[in-house]
Formats: sequence, structure tokens, C-alpha cells
Amino acid sequence: MVIKVDDLHIPVLLDEVIDNMNLKSNDIVVDCTLGFGGHSSRILSKINKGHLYAFDQDDEAIKYSDNRLNKICSNYTIIKSNFDNIKEELNKLGVNKVNCILFDLGVSSVQLDSDRGFTYMRNEKLDMRMDKEQKFSAIDVVNTYSYNDLVRIFFEYGESNFSKSIAKNIVKYREHKKIEYTSELVDIINSSTPKLLKKNPSKQIFQAIRIEVNHELDSLDKALDQAFDLIDVGGRILVISFHSLEDRIVKTKFNLKSNVDFIIKGNPNIDSSMLPKFRLVNKKPIVPSALELEKNSRSMSSKLRIIERIR
Ligand SMILES: C[S@@+](CC[C@H](N)C(=O)[O-])C[C@H]1O[C@@H](n2cnc3c(N)ncnc32)[C@H](O)[C@@H]1O
Repeated sequence: MVIKVDDLHIPVLLDEVIDNMNLKSNDIVVDCTLGFGGHSSRILSKINKGHLYAFDQDDEAIKYSDNRLNKICSNYTIIKSNFDNIKEELNKLGVNKVNCILFDLGVSSVQLDSDRGFTYMRNEKLDMRMDKEQKFSAIDVVNTYSYNDLVRIFFEYGESNFSKSIAKNIVKYREHKKIEYTSELVDIINSSTPKLLKKNPSKQIFQAIRIEVNHELDSLDKALDQAFDLIDVGGRILVISFHSLEDRIVKTKFNLKSNVDFIIKGNPNIDSSMLPKFRLVNKKPIVPSALELEKNSRSMSSKLRIIERIR
């Protein structure tokens, strides 16, 4: 059987991303989330005189994508690092300004389908690290976090209405046995929540633990600030988010960067240094079409926001 690339991970909002990047052949582009190279390979085919810098912290994704991109051309550099080091890593390579930066947040389908404990749908060892060299994993979260910290992450990152009862039962369970497998966690969640809920409660709890293990919100926050410094005039930053908290960070930062103070608005004598350096390309986020949703249910909660540097 021949496995097609798109059987591994279907890139989300691909046409919308490429159309909005406004790529020119000599552009310098950064893909902060290389994954299985869905976006990167399309980008690379458009910048044959430019260069693509692609970040990921997952060795398997890097190995696969290196092979995939190499078949297109050699104008790319893969950087194994958390994207919250974007500025330092690019500066080390002598890159101070770029034309486009893309973030396609979260995990890839391949990571979800791997045996690294990201999913509640199979019994695997609890793990959830994107970077296997990182020591801290889901095992540490469920076995060492206090009741209050568990409630906080389940409530904040998982938006679960059952945060307290699940946290209470985790603490009770681990008094007798360390929680090591996804099935143990799923059993605890099921025994802490009403039967026949519309949404599987494990989905929210697993997501919350994954966000905590990989410091996902903190990394996004840090990386966006660096992206604003790196992007050149006329360039764009594009972010695909899958979670309301991610989207809130992006929306808030983009609004702050592009906001025209009401005192400045309409005042012809204002010095241009006081005007915002960025403009929002789309006020409302771009979401997947009905056709994309039909083809790829994992695109369901995706939202694309874009900002452009104008001065
Ligand atoms: C949704 S996938 C990207 C898929 C990719 N756009 C494609 O079309 O194949 C997200 C990827 O970004 C990586 N990633 C997520 N957060 C990261 C971070 N903070 N630093 C580096 N890589 C990260 C994950 O390991 C994963 O491979």
C-alpha cells in the first residue's frame, strides 16, 4: 500500500495561508511549525530564489519533512528548537529580518496517532512531549501536581466543568498507585463525570495536560513578540490556532499592535513614529470552508489571523 503524504497530516487552511502570504520568489520565510511539511513544501515551491527557515521540536517530524523538502529544492534550513527561541536562532544564522512568518499551532495528526500518549482513544504510556529530549511529561503532571494546580489547568486549558471532581479522583487514585497509562486516566475521568455527555470529557482533560506539558501558551506568547521584531515592512505574520486560549493571545496581541490610539485618530499633525507599525489583514479570523471540514474533521476549530507590517 502506498501511503500518501496527506494520509499522514492534511495541512489546514493551506490555500488560505498561501494566498495571504503574498510570496515573492526571493522572500525569506519562517515556518515556526514545520510538522510534516504541508505548508512548508508549498511555500518552498514558491520561493526558489529565497530561503525557508523551518522550526520544529519533534525529531520524527523533522526527519520526515527534511526528506520531503529536499525533493523540492535546497533553499531551506530546518532548526530543531522551540519556536520561542525564534529570534535568537535566526540571529545566530545572520537573519535579522524576514518577509513572512507562519505558526500552525498544536500537534500534527501524526503526533496524535503516534504511541506517545497524546490521545485518550488508545491505551498508551502517558507522555505527550513534543520534544522527546524534554524531561517533564504528562506522567509528572498527573502524579505530582497538587489538587489546586490540576483544577487550574483542567479549568483554564480544558474548560472542563468537572475539573474539581476529576482532580479529586486523580489525587485519590495516586495515593495507591502511580498513574502511568492513558487508560488509567480515562477511567478516572469517566468515574468522575456523568455518563452520556455530549462531548467526551477526556478530550478536554488530555488537551489541558498537553498544553501544560509543552508550555504551549507561554511559548506562543513569547514567540509572537519576537515575530513582531523580525518581520520586515510589507511582511506578514499568519497564525492558525485551534484553541480559544491560543486565539485569545493572538487576537489580543494583534489588536494591540495595530490599534490606533483615539487621540491620534484623524489628527493630521501626528508624527508618523506614533502611528501603529501593523495593520490587521482580516478583522475576523478565516475559518475552514465546508469542503475542507468535510475532507478533514481535524480542521474543525481552526482560525487563521493575519497581521501586516506597514511601516
Ligand atoms: C499542527 S502541526 C504543523 C503541521 C504542518 N503545518 C504541516 O502542514 O505538516 C504543529 C507542529 O509544530 C510543532 N510545534 C508545536 N509547538 C511548537 C513549538 N513551541 N516549537 C517548535 N515546534 C512546535 C509540533 O511538533 C508539530 O510538528
